Amino acid sequence: MKAVRIHEFGGPEVLKIEDIPVPKPNADELLVKVYATSVNPVDWKIREGMRKDKFPSPLPLTLGWDLAGVVAEVGSDVKNFKKGDEIYARPDPTRNGTYAEYIVVRASEVALKPKTLSFTEAAAVPLAGLTAWQGLFKYGWLQEGQRVLIHAASGGVGTFAVQFAKWRGAYVIGTASEKNIDLVKELGADEVIDYKKVKFEDKLKDIDLVFDTQGGDTQKRSLAVLKNGGRLITTVKPENEAEAKEINIHIEGYMAQSDPKDLQQIAQLIDERKVRPVIAKVMDLDDAKEAQRMSQEGHVAGKIVLKVI
Ligand SMILES: NC(=O)c1ccc[n+]([C@@H]2O[C@H](COP(=O)([O-])OP(=O)(O)OC[C@H]3O[C@@H](n4cnc5c(N)ncnc54)[C@H](OP(=O)(O)O)[C@@H]3O)[C@@H](O)[C@H]2O)c1
Repeated sequence: MKAVRIHEFGGPEVLKIEDIPVPKPNADELLVKVYATSVNPVDWKIREGMRKDKFPSPLPLTLGWDLAGVVAEVGSDVKNFKKGDEIYARPDPTRNGTYAEYIVVRASEVALKPKTLSFTEAAAVPLAGLTAWQGLFKYGWLQEGQRVLIHAASGGVGTFAVQFAKWRGAYVIGTASEKNIDLVKELGADEVIDYKKVKFEDKLKDIDLVFDTQGGDTQKRSLAVLKNGGRLITTVKPENEAEAKEINIHIEGYMAQSDPKDLQQIAQLIDERKVRPVIAKVMDLDDAKEAQRMSQEGHVAGKIVLKVI
């Protein structure tokens, strides 16, 4: 099968398109024919070796951890999936990924794909969708009527976060640059702050939850907008912990997990047309280098999907 792999850490040039054997599923696993995958910042972070401490990546490694495809073979212990099922998943990022024609994935990480989406659309959902869902609800405790500030509301994670927060009944404020303001409003934000022109901390106060995907200066300045007892949940490194404690702010980072119950709930919201993936560009698997370069520049609105079929 075709796979895009790395044999060493480095820039986009270390990505190699190769012909390798189709993997075999163990008893608790599925072999899935990959129809589409999508690009996430973790792909190029792992490629660069930036995640070596967190993720022990065996080399050579197939990159890509979003999956939409069809079950091709079922492990002997798997009872809840059968050959031909249309599924989506965020496979384990410590194992071989989805920039390939087939992947072996644990059945416990998989859910049926949203029925109303094509495979290309569904591949944009799992990693970013799970990250937004768990950040807002499992760690952020977001409730109806609360005020949430979502940074990078135009990003892969942010576009889902805005829609989930709105669905929960929160008052949603997003940061984005001018070119993406209409998109973020259309996704449901009540207010959008142009992060290039306006200091959000000059405009906002008494926020219940800040959902941070930026870290650094953005995370630090966010403390000032939170109410006493508010939460700052970040997809990157939590900093400023001592300062947060002093003003009674809870600050926490997390790693999203591939929970099939969350994937099912997200699929339901998509099929009820309450949430949709935002797709910036569809490219071919052979264009993985260029797709990662674009992601690494940090200005994609929504997701880049790689079509495998
Ligand atoms: N912990 C986890 O489990 C987990 C899971 C997923 C992602 N992450 C991490 O979360 C981060 C975000 O991921 P992502 O997929 O959403 O990234 P992304 O899609 O690549 O984010 C790109 C978006 O960020 C916007 N942006 C850049 N700088 C900004 C700023 N200062 N303020 C507001 N918006 C800004 C860009 O808009 P402009 O073009 O207007 O600049 C662009 O639309 C990454 O570091 C990723 O590694 C962590």
